[in-house]
Order: sequence, then structure tokens, then C-alpha cells
Amino acid sequence: MKRIAILGCTGSVGRNTLEVVASHPEQLRVVAMAARSRIDLLAQQVAVVRPSLVAVWDEPRARELERLGCTTRIAVGPQGLVEAATHPDVDIVVVATAGPDALVPVIRAIQAGKRIALASKELLVMAGSLLVRLVQEHGIVLVPIDSEHAALFQCLQGVRREDVARLVITGSGGPLWGLSPSEMAGVSREQVQAHPRWKMGPKITVDSATLMNKGLEVIEAQWLFEVPLERIRVVIHPEAVVHGFVELRDGSLLAQLSPCDMRLPIQYALSFPERWPAPAARLELTRLAGLHFEEPDLQRFPCLGLALDAARQGGTACVALNGANDEAVASYLEGELAFADIPRLIAETLEQHAPLPHPTLDEILAVDAWARRTARERIHEGSLS
Ligand SMILES: NC(=O)c1ccc[n+]([C@@H]2O[C@H](COP(=O)([O-])OP(=O)(O)OC[C@H]3O[C@@H](n4cnc5c(N)ncnc54)[C@H](OP(=O)(O)O)[C@@H]3O)[C@@H](O)[C@H]2O)c1
Repeated sequence: MKRIAILGCTGSVGRNTLEVVASHPEQLRVVAMAARSRIDLLAQQVAVVRPSLVAVWDEPRARELERLGCTTRIAVGPQGLVEAATHPDVDIVVVATAGPDALVPVIRAIQAGKRIALASKELLVMAGSLLVRLVQEHGIVLVPIDSEHAALFQCLQGVRREDVARLVITGSGGPLWGLSPSEMAGVSREQVQAHPRWKMGPKITVDSATLMNKGLEVIEAQWLFEVPLERIRVVIHPEAVVHGFVELRDGSLLAQLSPCDMRLPIQYALSFPERWPAPAARLELTRLAGLHFEEPDLQRFPCLGLALDAARQGGTACVALNGANDEAVASYLEGELAFADIPRLIAETLEQHAPLPHPTLDEILAVDAWARRTARERIHEGSLS
């Protein structure tokens, strides 16, 4: 029996994780769960799952949860999230929060020797060097949930590191891939939110439309697999059947193919190194019409270029990129920022930042706060050029 904590249980990945747990009652049990604002849903989940601990972000929401009849122990605030991530009965922490709040709890979970199943790529973008060093120091296993990285992780099993020539991250191109520059200029919110392959939370769906998501994934892959930027390639693959390739030095390509269903990478992160019965429909090869691969277009999708530039600069450039992007996407979702202004806001925030090469946790948190504040101020001043 593996006992798990789910940070972000009310989100898209969190709900899929609960489905995986429900289909493996002999192997998995949820001990701790945490959410931020969807308290009605959290109350329903807690009533079904009956964990030992539930964490919420503030006192009013804790009271609301109690009013809804929750009798489970409630932990509150940043310390509550740490308690959920380090609960003594937990073996695996599923990290599926949006935003930066889970960074310190994940660090504490690693220090407590927990296995990490990581969906929240932004945490590696912010603090990759720190997290990887801690994972190595504490000898823990970190299994990615992000489907492309789950694919690469699977392909790399049993492969000698010196035989790896390149990692190839695929991307469907998102909801706007087929649009011309003039069509993109007038794109509607509905078009941006209508991802052709994946059903995900709102922030990652916008990141998929700008292709920032692929940029964040390149940075994530650098840290997870310790492969330099020049040996990581992005290709657009509209069918989204192949989730990643590992190219070996003899030219062989290893690939992982599966339907677009997050329950598969989530289940693998929980079952690793075992394989359990399929959680989703199987891929029917004879029904595939074809597999296509194209170069990404950095002109139409400048966010990908911004992310690759930040990765080249390294250090806190990625922290500033991530903080500015988070604020830009949140403002876009609130209707305060136009879609075309997302890359502009990020670029202008990055221009004001002098990256620190080897940041400490405090420096990372300070740059994250600075980037968010700077981006927000520009939005509210309406001073984008
Ligand atoms: N969705 C996917 O298929 C997918 C695929 C690959 C990677 N990812 C990554 O996985 C992460 C989550 O994505 P998502 O699409 O599942 O996002 P989502 O649907 O927006 O869910 C985010 C979750 O984080 C919780 N949360 C935010 N701040 C919190 C805090 N301070 N304390 C506790 N919980 C907090 C939210 O709680 P409330 O809802 O209660 O506010 C919610 O449960 C992101 O980093 C994303 O890039 C997602």
C-alpha cells in the first residue's frame, strides 16, 4: 500500500489523481490533501476519501470547510501545506498546485525523504538547481507527471546517460497552431481556452496557446534529466500521440505513445517502477490517420523564444520569466490584458532583471515576488510599449 498526499486535489491533475487512487484501492490510499479556493469540492472529496489531514490556505476557508461538515483535522496556511507534504504516514507527495506556494512544502517533503510525483513544472523552472541538488542529497525519487517528461522518463529507463544524444519534447501546438498572424491578432478567449487535445486547468491552457508551456517544459527537462539546453529539441506534433523521444548516439529514436489522458502519467508516477493495468483507453494504431512533425514557429509564438532565452541566461532569469508569465496569464484570464500583450509584458519584465547565477531559496522567492510586482504594476499603469 502506497500512502499519498495530494497538493492541489481540486485541480485538473488533482481530480485525475483521485480517479487513479479510486481505481487502485488495494495499492493506494490518500492520507493528506490540500486545496486553496474550491472549498465545496474539497468538502465533497474529503467526505469520500477520508484522509487524516486536509490543508487549506486561509482561516476563512478552514471555517467554511468546517461549516460544510468536515470532521477531518484541518491545517491552515503555508505551514498547513508543509504539514500535508511531510505527514509522517505519507510515502509519495503528488505536487499538482498552480502558482509558487508549493515550493517550500516540496523542499520540506524532499528533506523528509518523501517520493515526489511532480506535475507543477513551474517549481522546477523557478528552483531547478536547488530541487535537483536536494533530490540527490536525500536520495529520493522524483517522477515527473507532465506527460512529455513522463514519456522521456520512461524512454530513459535502462539507457546509459552517455548514450543519449538528444531529448525531443513534442507539443500539439495548442489551440492556435493553425491560425495565421492576422487571425491570431483577433483571437477570442473561447479559442484560447479550447485546447484540441488536452483538458487542463486554465493557466496551463493559456500557456499551451502561447507555447510558453513548451518553453517551461524545456527548462523542466534540463533539470529533470540533466541535459544541456542545446541537446533538447521541441517539435510540434498536432496529433499528440507521441509524447517524447529520446535520440541515442547511434541515431535510434525511443518514443512513448499513448492517448492524451493524464491518468496514465499520474498512475505511472505512483506505480513506478511497477506497471499497473491501463487506467484509460488503449491506443488503436490502425485508427491513426498519420503522425506529423513540424518546427515550432518562434515568430508567431514569441513566448517560446522568451523561455529559451531565459534558459540560456540561467539563474534567476527563469524565475523572473515564470513570475511575469504567471501574472500575465492571470491578468489575461481576468480580462485585464490582451492576448498579444502576454509576451510583451514578460519581455519588458525580463529586460529590467539582472539574473543572479546561483540563487539561494531566499533569492528565488525575492525575484519571484519582484517579477510579479513589476508585471502587475505595468498592467495597472497600462504602460506596455
Ligand atoms: N492539467 C494538466 O493536465 C497538466 C498537465 C501537465 C502539467 N500540469 C501542471 O500541473 C499543475 C496543476 O495544473 P492543473 O491544470 O491541475 O491546475 P488547476 O486545475 O488550476 O489546479 C490547481 C490546483 O492547485 C491548488 N492550489 C493553488 N494554490 C494552492 C495553495 N496555496 N494551497 C493548496 N492548493 C493550491 C488549487 O486549489 P483550488 O482549486 O481549490 O483553488 C487547485 O487544486 C500546473 O503546474 C500545471 O502546469 C497540468
